[in-house]
Amino acid sequence: MEGRQVTSALPNGDSGPRAQRVCQGPANGVLFQAPGPQKQRAVPRCLPPTQLRPTPLLALVARDQGSLAPTLERGEVSWVRKGRVVAFCGSAWPALQNLCALLVAHLKYQVRLQHDEAASMNNAGEGQDARLQSSFQSPTVRQRGRLYALGDLHLSFKANREALTALSSHPHDSLILCGDVGESTEHLALAFRTTRALFKHVIWVPGNHELYTLPPIDTPGRTKGEAKYHECVALAREYGILTPEDRFHLWEGEGGPCIIAPLFTLYDYSFRPENVSQERAVEWAKEEGVEATDEALLLPDPYPTKEAWCDVLVTRAEQRLEEAVAEGVPLILINHWPLRQDLVTIPRIPRFSIWCGTKKTENWHKRFNAKVVVSGHLHVRRTDLIDGVRFEECSLGYPRQWQDARERGSDINDMLREILPGPSAPFDGSLGTIWRRYG
Ligand SMILES: [Fe+2]
Ligand SMILES: [Fe+2]
Repeated sequence: MEGRQVTSALPNGDSGPRAQRVCQGPANGVLFQAPGPQKQRAVPRCLPPTQLRPTPLLALVARDQGSLAPTLERGEVSWVRKGRVVAFCGSAWPALQNLCALLVAHLKYQVRLQHDEAASMNNAGEGQDARLQSSFQSPTVRQRGRLYALGDLHLSFKANREALTALSSHPHDSLILCGDVGESTEHLALAFRTTRALFKHVIWVPGNHELYTLPPIDTPGRTKGEAKYHECVALAREYGILTPEDRFHLWEGEGGPCIIAPLFTLYDYSFRPENVSQERAVEWAKEEGVEATDEALLLPDPYPTKEAWCDVLVTRAEQRLEEAVAEGVPLILINHWPLRQDLVTIPRIPRFSIWCGTKKTENWHKRFNAKVVVSGHLHVRRTDLIDGVRFEECSLGYPRQWQDARERGSDINDMLREILPGPSAPFDGSLGTIWRRYG
């Protein structure tokens, strides 16, 4: 390796003759440097699964910061974070050579390639945050895995589908898809196939959009209500994805042990003022011009109403959670709809709250020994601490709703919310709600 110029073929078929290597020390540092001025550009993110090996320990260290390029071929880095350290992986050495050449030739990026754990950690310190430093733990620790969450992918939007292609590989980590992946089987399959290839385990809960019966709703064979839900569950199982219909999973990764409890509770219009009856709730919302698409497309079949369906779902979930809490292990409660009304802050359409949950779940975080409660639906990213329990709203949302994050150089990877082990700094809730643009 030492002293040779990198000219090997690149993953996208190009060659990297402009890449030149400069020795960076006696043994373990190799700098790939582009000619000419350096630009703040993007780098690709993931290695194909076949390239992922726990040893030798390798790290790519970028010389400057940059977001990632969704247009580039996947295939060379196990996972990457924005920041000075852009990758950490156990990969085949030739593959990393190719990657370095690609980074330099196409992105004008300076990249240091290291193949020594101590050297990696030494070079990882300057300018990084604690989260990045913790990422440079030994392979044994990293292999315990972290738990991330992302809700409301809404893959009916082309921009979100394109964003999904930039999602990094996390071979030791797990991902929660917190509902509203999309309305169609194709969108669900896309999300399941993509995330299952990138994460060790994937957990999915349904949102209202998965449950939609698309018009014309009386088309023969078009499933409705509970049948549509079970259709989604069957698809998830084809990809080996955990659903609310499966046994709860014991999490033994970082921040564990915990019981992963995916839930499906729907809503019953009870997030409303006391002087508004349940029967009049939808009319009350309409008075301010607010009506959820659910009223036309989310059908309760075979139940007479969504309130009745919600009641059945809540009762069923309570039974399962009571059994789980008896294990004496903290739970991670995952539900598309927020469990508490006080977490529904939607100032522009406050009366939309009636479609956002049920008061029957108000105390579940205490009753069922929750460590973290994960939800989506609101498209209002936030973290709260209530009764010592962390509540994470982890929506991605419609493209316009996270456009500012993209304009700041973030991508879908920056939108992942770390559920476990969670914040490294003490989070006592004294600062109130943490409103999040990303992360
Ligand atoms: Fe949504
Ligand atoms: Fe939703």
